[in-house]
Amino acid sequence: MLKICSAVLGAFIASSAFSQDSPDRDLLAMGKDKYSQTCRVCHGFNMVTSGTNVFDLRKFPLGEYDRFFQSVTEGKGLMPSFKNNLTDEQIKALWVYVSSRGQ
Ligand code: HEC
Repeated sequence: MLKICSAVLGAFIASSAFSQDSPDRDLLAMGKDKYSQTCRVCHGFNMVTSGTNVFDLRKFPLGEYDRFFQSVTEGKGLMPSFKNNLTDEQIKALWVYVSSRGQ
């Protein structure tokens, strides 16, 4: 009985937390996911690089979305273009994640 109660309570807490999510939080979660799948291999876990010549995304200037979009879609230096792999919304989500500085 106790088990059932706590399962119900758990579901209740989870769903109420979810309903409080703002669109930005959804984008952040989506961006974090995408980052792990697509960018982490080079830019590092939680955007912490291993100190190679890969750009440290935690230092990317926050006001420069256009530059971010441009670099991600066209590629830059050793970074490939992601034009055919990411939608505009996914890039926006990645931007929200990068802007969060990995928090
Ligand atoms: C194959 C490795 C690799 C992958 C995968 C990769 N990057 Fe990069 N990225 C780099 C390297 C190397 C640079 C430095 C480019 C330079 O300045 O020469 C860079 C630079 C950047 C920059 C800075 C560009 C600028 O304007 O100075 C941004 C922003 C960036 N990456 C975002 C991303 C995002 C978002 C993803 C995932 C969609 C990603 N990268 C995936 C290797 C990678």
